[in-house]
Amino acid sequence: MQKNDLKPQITSIINGDEEAVKKMQAICDLLQDKLPTYNWVGFYMAHETEPRLHLWCQAGEPTDHVVIPFGKGICGQVAVSNQNFVVDDVKAQDNYIACSIYVKSEVVIPLFKDGKNIGQIDIDSNTVAAFDESDERFLEWVNEQVATIL
Ligand code: SME
Repeated sequence: MQKNDLKPQITSIINGDEEAVKKMQAICDLLQDKLPTYNWVGFYMAHETEPRLHLWCQAGEPTDHVVIPFGKGICGQVAVSNQNFVVDDVKAQDNYIACSIYVKSEVVIPLFKDGKNIGQIDIDSNTVAAFDESDERFLEWVNEQVATIL
């Protein structure tokens, strides 16, 4: 399955009747199930007033890191930088929070609502350098869809 082939299914999830967090969970499940290198998929969302991220939903192995302070790890850095972060080799990162010994690469894409960085999608892969610009474009699109339901 190619990631762009999933767009119609994602659109149909977004257009459904469920509450937003259930739609976000369904998107995590879909990506993790259909894309072999997307081994863990989650949405971390910023607290309304405090500088920390909270894990709203995830697909893949449970993680202890359900709250991440801004600035910590790849996720916390993206909360501050507002930039995509593609990590080909997590071992080469100093400011990194390990969730599983099997993870080799990661991508984190900020999610903007009305121009504000309110959270992010985070994907871990057990394959080195699993993510390229096509993943960035795809995940930016996913986040744009999710922003419409938040
Ligand atoms: N690796 C992330 C933490 C989240 S886990 O990947 C689920 C980080 O360094 O921020």
